Amino acid sequence: MLVSAKEMLNKAKAGKYAVGQFNINNLEWTKAVLLTAQENNSPVILGVSEGAGKYMCGYKTIVGMVNGMIEELNITVPVALHLDHGSYNGALACIEAGFSSIMFDGSHYPIEENIQKTKELIAIAEAKGISVEAEVGAIGGEEDGVVGNGEVADPEECKMIADLGVTMLAAGIGNIHGKYPENWAGLNFEVLAKIQELTGTMPLVLHGGTGIPAEMIQKAISLGVSKINVNTECQLAFAAATREYVEAGKDLKGKGFDPRKLLAPGFEAIKATVKEKMELFGSINKA
Ligand code: 13P
Repeated sequence: MLVSAKEMLNKAKAGKYAVGQFNINNLEWTKAVLLTAQENNSPVILGVSEGAGKYMCGYKTIVGMVNGMIEELNITVPVALHLDHGSYNGALACIEAGFSSIMFDGSHYPIEENIQKTKELIAIAEAKGISVEAEVGAIGGEEDGVVGNGEVADPEECKMIADLGVTMLAAGIGNIHGKYPENWAGLNFEVLAKIQELTGTMPLVLHGGTGIPAEMIQKAISLGVSKINVNTECQLAFAAATREYVEAGKDLKGKGFDPRKLLAPGFEAIKATVKEKMELFGSINKA
């Protein structure tokens, strides 16, 4: 059964480790993440962006697939199904479809509007036991080929949003989605420490987990980060393993073209990446 992210993240915050959010793209991705969580006795959050939602034929299809897998694969570790960077209407659609957690990304609105919309969604989600992630300070990333340094959130604004009763809070601290540029300035730990000081026990979320050096991840966890999002790194691992299989001509040998064979190395590569992250985040045996 799907659970809200609230309990697992409060436990992580208290225990000074982080739960990974791994974004899913299809059946293989979902199965790889769920099996790795179970094998390592780790709680896990499955992230679904609105784009990935459309790709996988809608939120209801995803809820059906994930619930089916939890039952058929005997997954007993806590699993949250979470909308990643949702719009207001996307969040409503996911609540309706059976997601157990949503993110409302109102970081591009003026703070008053972000507060108003976040508040409305908390009221709706709370009544159904669904966790809510809010965001302050947009996460940087590649736009039109230009990679910017991540925006840094205002700690006072973080406090305002945290006080609305969100379950977990994403705050920009110089992090970026996708690969980090060579000249990246790194995470802003001063701001993170200030946010943690003002928001107390609120689990903080670090987006853009791909490519952040291990020491920075550990320092971020020590400063209150309890949820770390990883997406691109699994995609890169999947693509590299699939490329190797095809370049070795394995799809041309015997029944190597069978999708169950063709996609197997990529599937294993996702599993290895997820396990590595769970080790780094400290969530193994924390289910
Ligand atoms: P990466 O793709 O950089 O790992 O970021 C994932 C993320 O933050 C999803 O919200």
